[in-house]
Amino acid sequence: MLQLIQFLVAAGTLAGYTVQGLSTFQWPNQLLDYADHQLYEGTMDGLVEGCTPRVNTPRDNTTISAQWLRLAYNDMSTHNVDDGTGGLDASIMYELDRAQNVGEGMVQSLQDFNGLAIIAPFFGMADSIALGAVFAVKGCGGPVIPYSAGRIDATAAGPPTVPQPQQNLTTHIELFRQQGFNETDMIALVACGHTLGGVRQVDFPLIVTDTSIDVDTFDTTPAFDNTIVSQYLQNTTQDVLVVGPNVTTQSDLRIFSSDGNVTMQSLLSADTFSDTCATLLQRMINTVPSAVNLTDPITEPFQYVINDPLFSYQNGTFNMITALRVRKTYLYSSQCECYSDLVMGRPAGGSFCPSTGCSKQSSSTQPVFFTVFGEAQGFTASRYLFNATINSTSSISKFWFEINNNDGSDPVVVDNGGSGFVIEQDPSLSLFVDAMRSELIFSENSGGFIAFLKVLGDAASASASMTAFSPFSTAISPPFTPTTTSINLELDETNPPEGGFTFFTANSSISGSFLDLTANVGSTSFTVENFNLAFAVSSFPSIVISS
Ligand SMILES: *[C@@H]1O[C@H](CO)[C@@H](O)[C@H](O)[C@H]1NC(C)=O
Ligand SMILES: *[C@@H]1O[C@H](CO)[C@@H](O)[C@H](O)[C@H]1NC(C)=O
Ligand SMILES: *[C@@H]1O[C@H](CO)[C@@H](O)[C@H](O)[C@H]1NC(C)=O
Ligand SMILES: *[C@@H]1O[C@H](CO)[C@@H](O)[C@H](O)[C@H]1NC(C)=O
Ligand SMILES: *[C@@H]1O[C@H](CO)[C@@H](O)[C@H](O)[C@H]1NC(C)=O
Ligand SMILES: *[C@@H]1O[C@H](CO)[C@@H](O)[C@H](O)[C@H]1NC(C)=O
Ligand SMILES: *[C@@H]1O[C@H](CO)[C@@H](O)[C@H](O)[C@H]1NC(C)=O
Ligand SMILES: *[C@@H]1O[C@H](CO)[C@@H](O)[C@H](O)[C@H]1NC(C)=O
Ligand SMILES: *[C@@H]1O[C@H](CO)[C@@H](O)[C@H](O)[C@H]1NC(C)=O
Ligand SMILES: *[C@@H]1O[C@H](CO)[C@@H](O)[C@H](O)[C@H]1NC(C)=O
Ligand SMILES: *[C@@H]1O[C@H](CO)[C@@H](O)[C@H](O)[C@H]1NC(C)=O
Repeated sequence: MLQLIQFLVAAGTLAGYTVQGLSTFQWPNQLLDYADHQLYEGTMDGLVEGCTPRVNTPRDNTTISAQWLRLAYNDMSTHNVDDGTGGLDASIMYELDRAQNVGEGMVQSLQDFNGLAIIAPFFGMADSIALGAVFAVKGCGGPVIPYSAGRIDATAAGPPTVPQPQQNLTTHIELFRQQGFNETDMIALVACGHTLGGVRQVDFPLIVTDTSIDVDTFDTTPAFDNTIVSQYLQNTTQDVLVVGPNVTTQSDLRIFSSDGNVTMQSLLSADTFSDTCATLLQRMINTVPSAVNLTDPITEPFQYVINDPLFSYQNGTFNMITALRVRKTYLYSSQCECYSDLVMGRPAGGSFCPSTGCSKQSSSTQPVFFTVFGEAQGFTASRYLFNATINSTSSISKFWFEINNNDGSDPVVVDNGGSGFVIEQDPSLSLFVDAMRSELIFSENSGGFIAFLKVLGDAASASASMTAFSPFSTAISPPFTPTTTSINLELDETNPPEGGFTFFTANSSISGSFLDLTANVGSTSFTVENFNLAFAVSSFPSIVISS
């Protein structure tokens, strides 16, 4: 008979606990979960916030946002609507020797994404480039672009179809058409793109002939705004692709004026500019080979997301740790103290749950620091940590959360859309990384992990192995591709078999951020895929023992 676990949360007031259907997250969905995390709690923020031109740095004296947006567009440019091939697929990593992709900023941007270590087995460089575009725009004060994940990285170059300044209007219209954009779209997309950045002299010496200029910016503001449009229409533009001395490379003038300035006139409205750019740039980053399926767009942080539960076993009991992120709105942030007196209690009519430990109050609360997206949208959040003891014989089948407002109203039940958060008995509780015995060892290159195997047959017949995925490429220049290392686990002498479990151990480099585990017991094989070690370590620092 399986035990059920119910987590109860009681809060002083209802403030902020508004349930919104649109942001319901159905667990488990590792890709969506990861995309939400990168968007709202990720690390890209720091490089683009403030939209500061990087003067006297190896960043070309321009904004990182400008570089990330150009990278995304040029990568996407390989799309062909006629046969559904190409698009935003990271093929740019194999196309950097082409004249249209010239510039240190391209390599530096790819190095950013490699170095940020956000690449996962299911979230590649292409998803990172698209995410970079979304951060680039928001970081410079532009609109929120709904983000979808699920791109697939190319392994070779695509066709050379990035538009170039010396090409004529007919060619540009055709290239944009192939990418899926009509003439109106083309005009607006170029304006949206050229609100950031400029032309770098050393890369385009025939366009920017004055060698004292470093980057000839398209307009006078680094921000994502419609100055590019107003200065063009006022005939005060400095855009070298409009007013440059060489008529051949006045491509922005040809494009902007191609419909008698009608589209540019419409973009004089800041709201129209913002909305149009959001729509077009979303289409741009979602331009992918037709075989690729993207997730639904994430438009706001999910109301509730959980951390995948982590298990540990000792002396007849499991410890399960998990966490619930609860979204709030700024509207209520002045009352945020109300969450500090969260308590957990036994369920009211908890007859299903006879022994101690089946409902738990949160052990601690962490503030969640959202990126520019959460801030711009007026959201904040708290994460409630839970640590439950579970009888290892009876185990559990599922858990859920209840948020009790202590005001006589019914508690808000967070039960994953009615199904609860279901713990599969196999393989979840047959093979898992023991969160409390695993250690992060700060030595030269090792982090120690102990996997934990439930032996169903003869212990002597058991064996285990793991593959560690590292998002880092040690390559000096693109392509940056992740590395995997396969390791056989050894029986752990220091933890003899106990309660039907056999302990295995292995050391892996800390940079391995995801683990695939396999265990064979006699003829039965168990696997756990994409165990997110980085999340485990960052979410529950207390499980990490440093030495
Ligand atoms: C950035 O601009 C400054 C001032 O114009 C210049 O001295 C410097 O060389 C430029 N840096 C780079 C990397 O081009
Ligand atoms: C535009 O350029 C293409 C390719 O160079 C050329 O074939 C075409 O004739 C040109 N069209 C016009 C209108 O100049
Ligand atoms: C381009 O497509 C948009 C809709 O995406 C439409 O509003 C516009 O009229 C089209 N422009 C042309 C020139 O077909
Ligand atoms: C725009 O400015 C240029 C030079 O600054 C000038 O030659 C041109 O006549 C102006 N055009 C209009 C329409 O004012
Ligand atoms: C103008 O630009 C084109 C294309 O880059 C180049 O071939 C031509 O030599 C340039 N003309 C002058 C006068 O620099
Ligand atoms: C479009 O605007 C530009 C820049 O102000 C101007 O030079 C050009 O003459 C305009 N074209 C039309 C057809 O109005
Ligand atoms: C995309 O979805 C379709 C329909 O569900 C499916 O047949 C196809 O295999 C999926 N493609 C990928 C790359 O997952
Ligand atoms: C294991 O549990 C038993 C019974 O609950 C207890 O007597 C024993 O001290 C525990 N051993 C350890 C190492 O905690
Ligand atoms: C969870 O609770 C167990 C038993 O009370 C304790 O040993 C362990 O340190 C706790 N783990 C965390 C991450 O708080
Ligand atoms: C665990 O569950 C088993 C079976 O239901 C029971 O016999 C045992 O007493 C329980 N252990 C504890 C410590 O509650
Ligand atoms: C893992 O590393 C630790 C510390 O360097 C060492 O004591 C241990 O023997 C290693 N274990 C394995 C399985 O290599």
